[in-house]
Amino acid sequence: MSIGKVIAIANQKGGVGKTTSAVSLSAALARKKKKVLLVDSDPQGNASSGVGIHQGDYTHQLYHCYTRKIPLQDALLIPNKKARLSLVPSGIDLAAAEMELFPVKNREYVLKKMLAPIREDFDFIIIDCPPSLGLLTINSLTASDSVLIPMQCEYFAMEGLAQLIKTIRSVKKSLNKNLFIEGLLLTMFDKRNRLTFQVEKEIKKHFKDQVFKTVIPRNVRLSECPSHGQSVIEYDVKSTGAQAYIKLANEFMRRQK
Ligand SMILES: Nc1ncnc2c1ncn2[C@@H]1O[C@H](COP(=O)(O)OP(=O)(O)OP(=O)(O)O)[C@@H](O)[C@H]1O
Ligand SMILES: [Mg+2]
Repeated sequence: MSIGKVIAIANQKGGVGKTTSAVSLSAALARKKKKVLLVDSDPQGNASSGVGIHQGDYTHQLYHCYTRKIPLQDALLIPNKKARLSLVPSGIDLAAAEMELFPVKNREYVLKKMLAPIREDFDFIIIDCPPSLGLLTINSLTASDSVLIPMQCEYFAMEGLAQLIKTIRSVKKSLNKNLFIEGLLLTMFDKRNRLTFQVEKEIKKHFKDQVFKTVIPRNVRLSECPSHGQSVIEYDVKSTGAQAYIKLANEFMRRQK
């Protein structure tokens, strides 16, 4: 098993289930007694609020680490004891980081350098990326061993995927030669919608076994839990959403060998 494996959850398309997958997979791995660090790399701060952390609950966030040389260690917090995972929170200030980073030398490697001293403390470090291919996402991809791509099973799912794959290839070529695609994850699967099955077929035709066998169904518990500041694993472990992410964590672990 890899120690301190870093996984970016990325797709520049908005609302495809990145944050839900980052939070739920982190929680499902933590439930399997893995040491997990969730890094919120989105100024929307949804991963932070998804585990109950809001602006005011922390002194330092990822923005301060990027721009004020605060060690990532000093921004680490444990949202709740039950979930057993660690978080580097983010909030709206992080939006300014991309501009502030622009003149910085080796600006694509900042997160990678920040993670280096704490990598060994965790089994998995999961980075929730924003819906863009800007410097925050580039830093995440440069810092990562692999990228997990959530895709919503809808008509426009494939649109933009080519751009994402192109970006991953160019990061691999010039910034991080070891980066690989952990897998594509089909999210918000709706069995009642015939189009969903067509999209699934299409994606599997292109990406074959790069697509996770586990599919995440549309489940109301998954959309409710963030407002309770809990991952679905804590909120309702019996729900189909929680069970799907537990299954994903199992499949993910089997693939690590
Ligand atoms: N499987 C699901 N079933 C029901 N609702 C879901 C599911 N997955 C995600 N959602 C809901 O869909 C919305 C978008 O999901 P999420 O925030 O995870 O996407 P995102 O890709 O992180 O979005 P953004 O690009 O804005 O960061 C949220 O309201 C979330 O609660
Ligand atoms: Mg998000």
